[in-house]
Amino acid sequence: KDCLLINISELMGILPVGCLRLQGEQMDSVKSIKNAFLHISQGKIISYGPMDKCPLEQMGETMEIVNLAGHTVMPAFCDSHTHIVYAGNREQEFIDKINGLSYEEIAARGGGILNSADLLHSTSEDELYEQAVVRLEEVIEKGTGAIEIKSGYGLTTEDELKMLRIKSTFLGAHAVGRAYVGRQSEYVELVCNEMIPKVAEEGLADFVDVFCDEGFFTVEETDKILSTASKYGIVPKIHANELAVSGGVQVGVKHNAQSVDHLERTTDAEIEALRYSATMPVMLPGASFFLGMPYGRAKEYIAKGLAVALASDYNPGSSPSGDMRFVMALGCIKMKLTPEQAFNACTINGAYGMGVSDIVGSITEGKLAKLLVLKKGVTLGYIPYCHHSPFIERVII
Ligand code: NIG
Ligand code: FE
Repeated sequence: KDCLLINISELMGILPVGCLRLQGEQMDSVKSIKNAFLHISQGKIISYGPMDKCPLEQMGETMEIVNLAGHTVMPAFCDSHTHIVYAGNREQEFIDKINGLSYEEIAARGGGILNSADLLHSTSEDELYEQAVVRLEEVIEKGTGAIEIKSGYGLTTEDELKMLRIKSTFLGAHAVGRAYVGRQSEYVELVCNEMIPKVAEEGLADFVDVFCDEGFFTVEETDKILSTASKYGIVPKIHANELAVSGGVQVGVKHNAQSVDHLERTTDAEIEALRYSATMPVMLPGASFFLGMPYGRAKEYIAKGLAVALASDYNPGSSPSGDMRFVMALGCIKMKLTPEQAFNACTINGAYGMGVSDIVGSITEGKLAKLLVLKKGVTLGYIPYCHHSPFIERVII
């Protein structure tokens, strides 16, 4: 339906057509127009501009006109890294962590990801879908307009396909499946020779992801899995440098990954590897918060001219929240990003991190109208400052 938003007090997050990501000092500003209009037709942004250029008279009778005097309008958040298709939860491990066990210790004794895999195995596809939809509705209400979702709690061919029929980044190499414990190289063979071919044949994944980190998959195994993925024309993403300086960033860049994610532990070598690459570094401050890990060096990456995206990592083990307002707050409070930098990291650069920045992530002619209308008087800095107050008036998707 055609819709004209008028008298918008501030239309925020404007980018020109063709701008797919923001790097370095480009991240320092957020372009906006005060007292603006925005014309939406068939779900897309047709035009926008200052109110004195608003073509109100030329609009047809069927047009819905919404007066947003006093309200800021911004693009919805783009969350490029989640695992929201999972069964049940891991509340017991949360208690174990409080009592002193580390994430690695829980994983090493067969809990963690394998615990979620056991739960998923005994959950039907319909039930799994129902649980995922609840989480999806929850994050939409919190302002997320585009989201990436990984598999990786199946770890058998059958269960991975079950997850992927819901959606969409294949993460078979998330952990070694229970049946293959002690036979890691055979599991890697299974991923390469059976899972990836089936996923490709059924067209089930936009990306292939690998957890390349200490205690999970090695650089060599990752290299092999990503080479297989590229044979099938599937673009890589990667989980790297969360638990150790793993070499994951470099192997991801080597394979032209869409993104390399986590990056809680990186050195200047990772920054140099990312320079001049098309790969987006995606940092996940919610995981740093929940597991008590260091925060990624986002500020330095930006100072050195790189792009950075922030995502929620919503999953039962390391970040049980998909609230991008909280992610933005952590970006500012813990990573010392300015609200402008955090905003760009959570919108256009997040969209780039999942390969959709040509259609979402900013106010741009032709992009999908996925928008947040903020409550009266709320401006950019207020979002991370008071991230818990209910300042979203309306989500338009
Ligand atoms: O992104 N690091 C690996 N994978 C997830 C956590 C998975 C889990 O613990 O269930 C992450 O943090
Ligand atoms: Fe993750």
